[in-house]
Amino acid sequence: MSRASRHWALIPAAGVGRRFGAEVPKQYLDLAGRPVIDYAIRAFVGHRGIAGSVVVLGTEDGWWADSSGYAGHPEVHRAPGGAERCHSVRNGLDVLARHAADDDWVLVHDAARPCLRRADLDTLLAALVDEPVGALLAVPIADTVKRADLGRVASTLPRSDLWRAYTPQAFRLGLLRRALDHAQAQDLIVTDDASAVELLGLRPRLIEGHTDNIKITRPDDLALAAFFLARQAEQ
Ligand code: CTP
Ligand code: MG
Repeated sequence: MSRASRHWALIPAAGVGRRFGAEVPKQYLDLAGRPVIDYAIRAFVGHRGIAGSVVVLGTEDGWWADSSGYAGHPEVHRAPGGAERCHSVRNGLDVLARHAADDDWVLVHDAARPCLRRADLDTLLAALVDEPVGALLAVPIADTVKRADLGRVASTLPRSDLWRAYTPQAFRLGLLRRALDHAQAQDLIVTDDASAVELLGLRPRLIEGHTDNIKITRPDDLALAAFFLARQAEQ
């Protein structure tokens, strides 16, 4: 009889934050007294449903050791970053495979998303029971979306079918490795984990989360994240 599958967190944190444009990669910027990345990690460390975590770090960054309260934590393993997010996640899977089995679940969560709610994480975990493909947190789009061509509207997309893809995105380790290798073999740079799995012809499940699970991308997002965290602490 095989043991029950476990759940692991994989946190890609090897980006440089080009769009944010700070001296320091955005995941190390201060957010109410702690680096952004620590909020992304804290949702998983100490969670009884999570066996351990891997953070994927840029090769040149000493910021992790200097600023993160999780540097040296026994449950937080480190992996080296790659050129794009998909390569960083792939490297993280290699390190995770030393601890995890192929049918264990991997929850990939951006280091730049500090406002993940515990309730949303638990909803995602619950959705994985008997799930054959995998699942991701997402939110239905509120705005009408236009496809542009040379600065003019080429078409309007039917909003009712559109969702914003968030993280965590959860897949079994073996499937996610196969999906990322398959995308890479075709020279495709996927911007999230679900896209790689979709390229195998599979259809990940959308789990509705809260809109405050934002990804810090540009400078204004940092103040917004501070506001969301303060509001969550009040609730
Ligand atoms: N990431 C990564 N390795 C890369 C690129 C990105 O681990 N080669 C991580 C980032 O650190 C971030 C997450 O993937 O936690 C989402 O990426 P994104 O928001 O695009 O971050 P950056 O790539 O750092 O930002 P930008 O695209 O503006 O440079
Ligand atoms: Mg990027």
